[in-house]
Amino acid sequence: MNRAVNTMMLLVSIYAALTMEVSTKTILCHTDNHEYFHKQYGGCLPCEKCNPGEEQMNIEEWVSSKPQSVFTKYGPTQCPECVTCRSGFFNNGRAFECKRCKNCTLYNKHEVEPCTSISDTECDGVLTNKGYV
Ligand SMILES: *[C@@H]1O[C@H](CO)[C@@H](O)[C@H](O)[C@H]1NC(C)=O
Repeated sequence: MNRAVNTMMLLVSIYAALTMEVSTKTILCHTDNHEYFHKQYGGCLPCEKCNPGEEQMNIEEWVSSKPQSVFTKYGPTQCPECVTCRSGFFNNGRAFECKRCKNCTLYNKHEVEPCTSISDTECDGVLTNKGYV
């Protein structure tokens, strides 16, 4: 319990420290804008979108998993890694975030194909209990 609280506090402080740096306007490249600081180039470059079935990992988790040296005063020198979509979400193209899978029940329709990490749920066009079948 205490351990969990301590971890939370640590993450909150790390995040607060980063946010504070942002507010001093020294940071040029922002993870929230999907960009990173490229030292040789001397400026910001865009992060690559994730492949189908993946999304950018949670930013707080990513920050706490990286050495402090990744975070320069011009911004992070890397982009958050892509990880598999959470259960109930999919990404069928290239994107930073997975989308929530459709729930056929909410439309009174039958599920024809379940959602996968790369494809949305497919519902048939038939109403199940109210109206036509
Ligand atoms: C869809 O919605 C129904 C009704 O709220 C719920 O019982 C069911 O668990 C949901 N199914 C999925 C796959 O989320």
